[in-house]
Amino acid sequence: MPPPGKILGQVSVNGDRHELAFAPHKTLLEVLREDLDLTGTKHGCELGECGACTVLVDGKPILSCLMLGIEALDREVETIEGMAVDGELHPLQTTFADLGASQCGYCSAGFMLTAKKLLDREAQPDRDRIRQALSGNLCRCTGYIKIFEAVELAAAKLRGESAEVSRETLHGH
Ligand code: FES
Ligand code: FES
Repeated sequence: MPPPGKILGQVSVNGDRHELAFAPHKTLLEVLREDLDLTGTKHGCELGECGACTVLVDGKPILSCLMLGIEALDREVETIEGMAVDGELHPLQTTFADLGASQCGYCSAGFMLTAKKLLDREAQPDRDRIRQALSGNLCRCTGYIKIFEAVELAAAKLRGESAEVSRETLHGH
């Protein structure tokens, strides 16, 4: 039996299943940060406007401030903590770091998860496609250009192009 005022359920996050008891009014963002201690997902506007809280639910970018935790029961949630595999960073994580696409970093998890979804589906999105895919994510620091470049460079790396070729591709834009 769950404690009074709470519901009991299973949430799968980054491949790990968690049995949790939480208040039914809690958002997925609150469940991740407060009940699972996964604080990489950021708490921004809580109004669905900034994208800082973006996670993937069943592979789709979702604003976790607008989804209740109970809506995520028995679904697959992916957060920034699950992006590196066996200690190896995802190419988006390295290119964001290398190109200065992450400054204060508050927006970065949301951008990277949204971009990951894009690159999982499209091997070579052009700048306009990247801009459109990331249009729900706001950044107050970078001016966006470095973010778009980091996504282009990560796409080139995922296509198996060497770092040198990738940089030439980037600078050819
Ligand atoms: S915190 Fe969810 S969109 Fe801003
Ligand atoms: S790096 Fe600061 S908000 Fe984007």
